[in-house]
Amino acid sequence: MCGIVGVVGAPSSGDLGEVILSALERLEYRGYDSAGIALVDSLGEVYRERRADRRASVAELRSLDLPSASVGIGHVRWATHGRPTVENAHPLVDCSGQLAVVHNGIIENHLELAEALACRGHRFRSETDTEVIAHLVEEGLAEGVDLLGAVRQALGVLQGAFALAVMAACAPDRLVAARRVSPLLVGLGDGVGVVGSDVAALIGETRDLAVVEDDQVVEVRAGSLRALDAAGVPVTLAPLRVDWDLAAAKRSGFPDFMSKEIAEQPEAVRQTLLGRALPDGRLRLDEMRLADAELREVDKVIIVACGSSFHAGMVAKYAIEHRARLPVEVDIASEFRYRDPIVDSRTLVVGVSQSGETIDTLQALRAARTWGARVLVISNVVDSSMAREADAVLYTHAGPEIGVAATKTFLAQVVAMELLGLYLAEVRGILFPTELEEPLARLAGLPGIVGEAVERSVEVAKVADALAASRDFFFIGRHVGYPVALEGALKLKEISYLRAEGFPAGELKHGPLALLDEGSVVVAVATRSRLWEKVVANIAEVKARGARVVGVVNDGDERTAELVDHVLSVPRTAPLLTPAVDVVPLQLLAYHLAKRRGLDVDRPRNLAKTVTVE
Ligand code: G6P
Repeated sequence: MCGIVGVVGAPSSGDLGEVILSALERLEYRGYDSAGIALVDSLGEVYRERRADRRASVAELRSLDLPSASVGIGHVRWATHGRPTVENAHPLVDCSGQLAVVHNGIIENHLELAEALACRGHRFRSETDTEVIAHLVEEGLAEGVDLLGAVRQALGVLQGAFALAVMAACAPDRLVAARRVSPLLVGLGDGVGVVGSDVAALIGETRDLAVVEDDQVVEVRAGSLRALDAAGVPVTLAPLRVDWDLAAAKRSGFPDFMSKEIAEQPEAVRQTLLGRALPDGRLRLDEMRLADAELREVDKVIIVACGSSFHAGMVAKYAIEHRARLPVEVDIASEFRYRDPIVDSRTLVVGVSQSGETIDTLQALRAARTWGARVLVISNVVDSSMAREADAVLYTHAGPEIGVAATKTFLAQVVAMELLGLYLAEVRGILFPTELEEPLARLAGLPGIVGEAVERSVEVAKVADALAASRDFFFIGRHVGYPVALEGALKLKEISYLRAEGFPAGELKHGPLALLDEGSVVVAVATRSRLWEKVVANIAEVKARGARVVGVVNDGDERTAELVDHVLSVPRTAPLLTPAVDVVPLQLLAYHLAKRRGLDVDRPRNLAKTVTVE
């Protein structure tokens, strides 16, 4: 999704324009269709440059000789309204060109606003929904209202979701930022005030950050923040806890973020497990605003999530039903609130989201809350929107994930699901604290096992070489191997653009088998589970139809290895933890196939890391 940044003042770390470009580099994972920067220069004029070269927009801006400036804003775009062209790139300006705005989100009533503004003589120069904001603020300034007041007036007529930052030549000592739904942070650093979409953008300047809530508007100056709520009443912003440092958001010698993040998986698992067991044997979540008695009343769990987080949510169904004996439904977040789900105060709705900002999941959780449900969130970002609104939070401490395709956060989520299953079992009296020892010991051994799987990258690369000419991939698995198959297929689609579908292995014969021919590749999750023999039978079915089979096979399992054409070997682990191990070679397979195709594994076409529009 789009990323915004704004800086005002005199940064100690370099020229203001350079500081903005550095922040944009760290935001590039959010959007990279195009990028732009606007500054109020020392002559008091707005300077603006934009580029729409998908691969290199920010790098191209870097090559410019930027003027020194007192305030500036920058943007990386993931197009929603209007093609990814220079004309549609942000910052967008008003008629005078002396007021500029950057925006993340969608202004839903932009067509009617644009029509009314055009009737009043405004001239539009882009196809974006964002440009109306610039013209609305322009009108406020023309009436003699200050920048903060003019932005507030504009907010009064905007519908939709947004995080925005506005600057104007007539107010060179400030920025005004506002939020409705889309995430926004502000902060004060050494000599500067800053605004940005996420921590990654701003940690270069400061860790002293605060969260802007819905319908708040903030005037940011070097050394001061002034925040108002929708009624114009001054408010104190909630400070944000920042648990990442700048180094974590850099590639650190790896060729790309994806390979770095795959290599970090053992550590992501270790960090997520850290400090979970209390001395009395009980388990600990990060934030718990629900009494044990409330959790004992829960009679149903509904998990809502998108993308890879949805696949981790599918694993949770197995973990929670097995451990806590509670019925679990798993729902795609964008579908959940548009059906008529049966939710009441005895329902625990669990939102799973790496970012904690995905709008579909956030809105699903908000709907669940209005229906009376208790809400628990599993998020990788401390103090994310979802985390702040939840009754309980379990953080996956995987560290920042920059590659668009989720890797280490998926593993951390699988671990979190097992912890949640155990936690609910314990609170509900199904497991005694002493009975937790064995599953916790298995979890403690997981980072080492994941480490072994990660180290087999060269082996997987050889399989990728053998499959380099293949175009059609089917991923199959059973039980918790099914979500692994879905996740493996998703990785391959996302970064290699190859046709890849995941199926429960038993479903093949009900349709997908018709698609198989000599050119097809079937990737079977065939590790030794309760259903291993059935998966083996499914492998025989697809081999009989001429498909080539790649098997994810446990170390030492010669029998399965002999059945398949290519082996991706993995160490063995406890059944409910296998997704965290078996998915690793599938991530690596997608990675190596994409690399062979010369693709940008960190920034796949058409995709964004965090989707903050519906
Ligand atoms: C986007 C990303 C996916 C991710 C999904 C959910 O589509 O490209 O990698 O799984 O959003 O994101 P979340 O932050 O809610 O886990």
